[in-house]
Amino acid sequence: MDSHLKCINCGQTYLINRVIYHCAACGGLLDVVHDLEALGGQVTRTTFDARLGAQSAPYHSGVWRFKELVNPGLPDAQIVSAPEGNTNLYDVPRLAGWAGIEGRLYLKHEGENPTGSFKDRGMTGGVSQARALGMAQVACASTGNTSAALASYAARAGMQALVFFQKGHVALGKLAQSIAYGATCVQIEGDFDAAMRLVQMVCDEFGIYLLNSVNPFRLEGQKTIIFEALQQLGWRAPDWIVVPGGNLGNSSAFGKALHELFQLGLIDRIPRVAVIQAAGANPLYLGYKGGFRDKPTVKAATLATAIKIGAPVNYDKARRTLQWTNGVVAQVTDQEILDAKAQIDAAGIGCEPASACSLAGTRKLVTERVIERGAVVVGVLTGHLLKDPTVILDYHTGMLAGFEVRYANKLLTAAPDLESIKRALNSFM
Ligand code: F0G
Repeated sequence: MDSHLKCINCGQTYLINRVIYHCAACGGLLDVVHDLEALGGQVTRTTFDARLGAQSAPYHSGVWRFKELVNPGLPDAQIVSAPEGNTNLYDVPRLAGWAGIEGRLYLKHEGENPTGSFKDRGMTGGVSQARALGMAQVACASTGNTSAALASYAARAGMQALVFFQKGHVALGKLAQSIAYGATCVQIEGDFDAAMRLVQMVCDEFGIYLLNSVNPFRLEGQKTIIFEALQQLGWRAPDWIVVPGGNLGNSSAFGKALHELFQLGLIDRIPRVAVIQAAGANPLYLGYKGGFRDKPTVKAATLATAIKIGAPVNYDKARRTLQWTNGVVAQVTDQEILDAKAQIDAAGIGCEPASACSLAGTRKLVTERVIERGAVVVGVLTGHLLKDPTVILDYHTGMLAGFEVRYANKLLTAAPDLESIKRALNSFM
């Protein structure tokens, strides 16, 4: 059977080339479903390992190396790829110690993708499908990274990109990228959730292809974060995978990826997934704590602007991930995010604020004895340090009002003579 679209609620199926983002029957989210039974004979660990080190398309991409599990029916000629993926999995004993982990902590740095975030993995999936469908225009609402990735991939594919974001709430690096890559950028006097509602209306009205993570082809690309991490670990499953949660695309993709790997026999157990939200943008956390009796939304507020989202579109799929992986949800304060970010940055690795949820959340869950000290943990760093230079400079120069700056690296100033420099270097000597 060919891959097709399937509603996660009522099971209604649709042809793979339908332009549809929600189930026409019940409004549920759609999965791209592959025929795992048929694929089972074709893909093994060896299939994917043999492609490591490939020099040419499509297998030199950390997404398309796993093509059979991403979009098997897509002709190679339609693929729009940088390539992406092939990101480092850092073994970080010092940060493990800081988080209270005595087992092993790895950080998978998705900020090492071409536009500096994991969104490139989703966007190569989504823009390639857009090309296969003959789309000339693509759009998204964004807190900044999706728009940067969309703008870049659309430019490479020769498509027009339209992006919406909240005025004044997109980190500098991301805004600069979207403008530079040539997208039509619209800032609105409304938050991300409002922008998300608007872009869906605009796409319906003008027949533009929607490339937010409600588009299931995005999530197929993002699954490869997990495929690649597992491959880097020699297909030995860690105990935990820890990921920041905003619009909950990654959380959703990770569950599907693990479910599929397990069904195909590529891993012999399913790691637990911990989704970490900012305390000021915590609808999944509230739902989880309330036993999912209702579906909360919040008015989001956090300095981790990437995850400043109060009504995540993938909520129902993220819930499914928690079921499939015996997962948990935790929340961390902005102070905890800043502390963890300072640690990751000073380790020479660096990430943007939202990404630091992975380390902050690991530390919290160890304290709460949810993650065992001896566990093997993979944390995902979702975006590059240079995405948000403003927060870094404000933090280290003491300009972040209301926060305790615990790990400042003070910027020194000296007059241009040796005595002044010696005085300035007092603390260094
Ligand atoms: N980390 C970063 C750096 C992000 O940019 C995002 C989402 C997330 C985490 C959360 O991931 O949405 O899959 O739960 N950024 C989106 C954007 C919303 O528009 O760039 P999620």
